[in-house]
Amino acid sequence: LTLTSCGQEASPAQAGELLRSKAKLPEPFQVPLPIPPVKKPIRSDAKADYYQVVQRKASLEILPGLKTEVMGYDGLLPGPTFDVRSGRTAIVEQINQLDVSTVVHLHGGHTPAPSDGWPLDLIMPANGQHGGHHMEGMEGMEGGDTTMGRRTYTYPNAQRAATLWYHDHTMDYTAPRVYRGLFGLHIIRDEEEDKLPLPKGDREIPLIIADRAFDADGSFLYPALKDGPGVESKYMEGVVADVTLVNGAPWPVHEVDAVRYRFRVLNASNARRYELGFDKGPATFVQIGSDGGLLDKPIEHQTLVVAPAERFDVVVDFSQYRPGDEVTVVNRLDGNANVMRFKIARKAADDTRIPATLSTYAVTPRPNGVVRREWRFRRGDAGSHRGWTINGKAFDPKVMQAQVKLDQYEIWTFVTDVHHPVHVHLAPFQVLTRGGQSKLSEFDHGWKDTVDIRPAEVVEVLVKFSAHKGKYLIHCHNLEHEDMAMMAGFETI
Ligand code: C2O
Ligand code: CU
Repeated sequence: LTLTSCGQEASPAQAGELLRSKAKLPEPFQVPLPIPPVKKPIRSDAKADYYQVVQRKASLEILPGLKTEVMGYDGLLPGPTFDVRSGRTAIVEQINQLDVSTVVHLHGGHTPAPSDGWPLDLIMPANGQHGGHHMEGMEGMEGGDTTMGRRTYTYPNAQRAATLWYHDHTMDYTAPRVYRGLFGLHIIRDEEEDKLPLPKGDREIPLIIADRAFDADGSFLYPALKDGPGVESKYMEGVVADVTLVNGAPWPVHEVDAVRYRFRVLNASNARRYELGFDKGPATFVQIGSDGGLLDKPIEHQTLVVAPAERFDVVVDFSQYRPGDEVTVVNRLDGNANVMRFKIARKAADDTRIPATLSTYAVTPRPNGVVRREWRFRRGDAGSHRGWTINGKAFDPKVMQAQVKLDQYEIWTFVTDVHHPVHVHLAPFQVLTRGGQSKLSEFDHGWKDTVDIRPAEVVEVLVKFSAHKGKYLIHCHNLEHEDMAMMAGFETI
């Protein structure tokens, strides 16, 4: 492979053929950056905070002058942000007022199995109709715990501060559900992080990036097959679309003071990778956290490579610009395509800093004599809806590919053919080696739950599960690959 300076292979970085909008698209940088509202509990007691979320359709103006029907948590795209304390339980009742069944997964959550969103633990629509095709031909319905109309998920949040997200996880239909809007952020905070002099308040901003395509009338375009799961074969590598949404707005603009900001970057795209960069220096991304929370030390990046489902917590210092300057975030993997723009409005006081030590978690040395497992991710055949495999098997909810003991380290080896962002439920991991080398990519540091594995690459990670016994998942987070069965169950025992 040819490596560019940032360590990414120079071959095509995107998934499938580009899905193009038919709608009239706005000029970039006209729409202000929205900030998803923070979800308020309906009540709290000594043990927990209780929330209620309604999954419903809504008609939103995403492209100026057009209406898009979304499926959203509380009718929003992205859904509301959960902003919770470490160790404080959140009990979330999800009410399904859509016309299809859904499943909710908290990505990055250390969640008991009954609340983890097993792909057949379906919430059937409250209105009693089932979205037609969904019920037919679905193998293994008996493998799930189906509820009617609503389901209560318990999230202990017994884990360190981190940027998590929640999204749909319905077997065979995750990609179209997430595409239509079923995703949102779940931020956990703790005292260790509170003590750091990092930007806060309106200088701490989520940037949830997702690509979408729109039909002429403003509705979402998605190349689903009419008669069941999967996408048209030319999109089987994954759906990449021509409009970049940040927090649900196309190529938005945001006014900032000439000070430091903290951005929680989430790639919520189905299949697209980004290499985010600024069109003009000198700003860089100083990474302070990854999927699983704060890094031990900050890492400065010229550009940020973000695969689907990965999170990067970064600080950007706009004091290096003058009031009146504009700086555009572009995607270098896509010919410097626009993502969003910042306008530097004014000078302002700034008492924030990026400490040299952020957190004191131990980087676990590679233990000897641990259990090893290999997970081989293989491409499917065009035309097969269930063709993408792990260890030669398409996802079968009745099959557990591994029995994993709690509280012991394991080394998991991921082997790929084409590019796959590999995600493990329940526990974060540390990347040990990439391409046979202990020198990692600059984006592999810290605790991660999703690791981007480049074509024909081998990555080893160290993982340890704890506390919760039950059925969990490992899968590709290219959502089209996932729906085409690149997913495996494992059981913690
Ligand atoms: Cu973000 Cu199993 O998912
Ligand atoms: Cu994949």
